[in-house]
Amino acid sequence: MSIIVCVEQRYGIGKNGKIPWNIPTDMKYFRKVTIGSGHNVVIMGRKTWESLSKRPLQGRINIILSKNSDLEDHLQSFDNVHHVRSKLDCLNMISAMVGVEDVFVIGGAEVFNEFDENCDKLF
Ligand SMILES: NC(=O)c1ccc[n+]([C@@H]2O[C@H](COP(=O)([O-])OP(=O)(O)OC[C@H]3O[C@@H](n4cnc5c(N)ncnc54)[C@H](OP(=O)(O)O)[C@@H]3O)[C@@H](O)[C@H]2O)c1
Repeated sequence: MSIIVCVEQRYGIGKNGKIPWNIPTDMKYFRKVTIGSGHNVVIMGRKTWESLSKRPLQGRINIILSKNSDLEDHLQSFDNVHHVRSKLDCLNMISAMVGVEDVFVIGGAEVFNEFDENCDKLF
């Protein structure tokens, strides 16, 4: 399991619920790495999901962490998107998946802090 994060000079990663810069080459790199050969999982917190305008990242299995079960109805309309209510549920879900190659923790800050101990690679 890896962390992939984009940081500024003082290690800031976001502002007002968004990433306060737009670097197309970074986004291309993020896409290329996280899609890989097309059998990868991305894990994100509910606030990061909202920052993506509540649209899944294509070509990847998206897992969204939230204690709020209301999210479930909204997520059901998408393929390849799952809601989990805890880190343990998230890890169990991934263990039960067949054919997963790489798992990327894509943020935000709260989720990075929680999954840091499970990750052995940083992009
Ligand atoms: N620079 C980068 O690479 C990068 C990457 C991603 C995001 N970001 C930025 O980071 C900021 C968002 O980060 P954030 O720390 O505020 O929020 P976040 O980590 O995206 O989401 C936090 C939310 O995730 C849910 N959550 C977290 N841990 C959970 C657990 N163990 N069990 C159940 N639910 C859990 C909770 O949702 P509920 O409140 O619904 O329970 C929590 O409020 C934004 O500004 C975003 O743009 C930057």
